[in-house]
Amino acid sequence: MAVPKSEDQKILQEHSQEKNKSCFILGASGETGKELLREILKQQKFSRVTLIGRRKLNLEGLLYSNVVQEVVDFEKLDESAVAFQGHDVGFCCLGTSRAKAGADGFVRVDRDYVEHAAKLAKAGGCRHFILESSKGADSSSSFLYLRTKGEVENRIQALEFDRFSIFRPAVLLCDRQEIRPGEWMARKVFGMVAYFFPTFMSIPTTTVAQAMANLAVMPAKDRQKVEVLENAAIHALGQSK
Ligand SMILES: NC(=O)c1ccc[n+]([C@@H]2O[C@H](COP(=O)([O-])OP(=O)(O)OC[C@H]3O[C@@H](n4cnc5c(N)ncnc54)[C@H](OP(=O)(O)O)[C@@H]3O)[C@@H](O)[C@H]2O)c1
Repeated sequence: MAVPKSEDQKILQEHSQEKNKSCFILGASGETGKELLREILKQQKFSRVTLIGRRKLNLEGLLYSNVVQEVVDFEKLDESAVAFQGHDVGFCCLGTSRAKAGADGFVRVDRDYVEHAAKLAKAGGCRHFILESSKGADSSSSFLYLRTKGEVENRIQALEFDRFSIFRPAVLLCDRQEIRPGEWMARKVFGMVAYFFPTFMSIPTTTVAQAMANLAVMPAKDRQKVEVLENAAIHALGQSK
């Protein structure tokens, strides 16, 4: 018996042929970003994909004929404004941690770099900005992490993209190369919880990436300019094919 398709699946199939679009990815070397790149290349929904990052990536093994790499200095991003020009969609999976960069460094990357990149993208004609933020993002939070994520969401919203999609995933599940002890422990615990309650407190980076790629080719629901996808919605969209 045929399984009925969800609304997301129907919309996705109707729009799966839109190919003449260009996108950029910030953070393509990271855990979510690399899955996103893989997914975008697999789905072949964009005719041009630009990776904007602080270092050149080795893309061996990927089908990458339509991938361009732009190496930029995030402290002097205006000098690379041209890299942000002419894209329909911008994906942002950029971020660091307080442990790695210190409190100021974390804010600099997760808020200021992201905001600056979004400004250049908007000026360059980007219509749809898709941000990987975090569950609990809240500009009035007393926690630096959640406050910073809330602040960057607000700042990008103020830029008034035609469409701004905010992803708020819970703990990311992946085989992270970098050692982050606290996160490692959380991942072990949430990995077990996820076995019984898959959409509760965690999400695989592959699912986030699929959801981001899927959303980019779907029209906004109810013509919303700003949409927020919480963890359960990301799970649902990431599983639509
Ligand atoms: N970890 C979680 O459980 C979790 C949960 C919810 C939301 N999030 C958020 O989701 C986003 C993606 O997370 P992720 O774990 O997939 O990312 P990740 O693996 O930590 O990768 C981060 C990306 O940002 C780049 N980056 C970091 N510091 C930089 C700097 N100083 N200058 C330029 N580029 C820099 C990295 O480039 P290099 O490869 O060059 O370092 C990499 O491409 C982040 O914003 C994170 O806060 C994370």
